[in-house]
Amino acid sequence: MPRLMRNTDATYFAAYFNDILVGHSALVRENGKWILEGLRVRPEFREKGIGKKLTEIRVNCAISQKAKSVWYLARDKNLVSICCHMKLGFQKHCGDKPDCKITDVVWYKLDLTPEFIESFSKKNLQKV
Ligand SMILES: CC(C)(COP(=O)(O)OP(=O)(O)OC[C@H]1O[C@@H](n2cnc3c(N)ncnc32)[C@H](O)[C@@H]1OP(=O)(O)O)[C@@H](O)C(=O)NCCC(=O)NCCS
Repeated sequence: MPRLMRNTDATYFAAYFNDILVGHSALVRENGKWILEGLRVRPEFREKGIGKKLTEIRVNCAISQKAKSVWYLARDKNLVSICCHMKLGFQKHCGDKPDCKITDVVWYKLDLTPEFIESFSKKNLQKV
């Protein structure tokens, strides 16, 4: 069974166009860490804002559960994924190393500070 499906401490999000599943993602709690996982948008539905929406919804869910930060893992060369997250303010974490290699799978972290939450909530309210 895939690792994500075994995790009972996970919330899943899906995007539908009519009856078609066009995107999915999850917010997982693992060893006290809130992790964004499983983001995927059907190729023919990409670059329409679905990935961004699925990311914002998960960050919002983490905020509502009083998370102090959220993390995700991506290969350093996955520029599209990094593009989706970096604009929200995620920062690369190379652990103890001074820098990460382009081929490394790297952690990215977003601190959910009161300042971030205030500006994030304002932006999301404006979209409603
Ligand atoms: C990464 C992925 C989820 C993005 O989904 P998406 O619905 O196309 O993303 P969005 O349309 O919401 O775009 C989010 C931002 O990324 C930018 N972006 C998306 N695709 C892009 C591309 N091919 N080139 C450049 N920028 C791109 C958008 O312009 C947008 O920027 P904006 O906030 O300034 O408008 C999708 O490409 C995918 O499923 N990739 C394969 C799986 C994967 O890599 N998952 C991520 C694992 S961490």
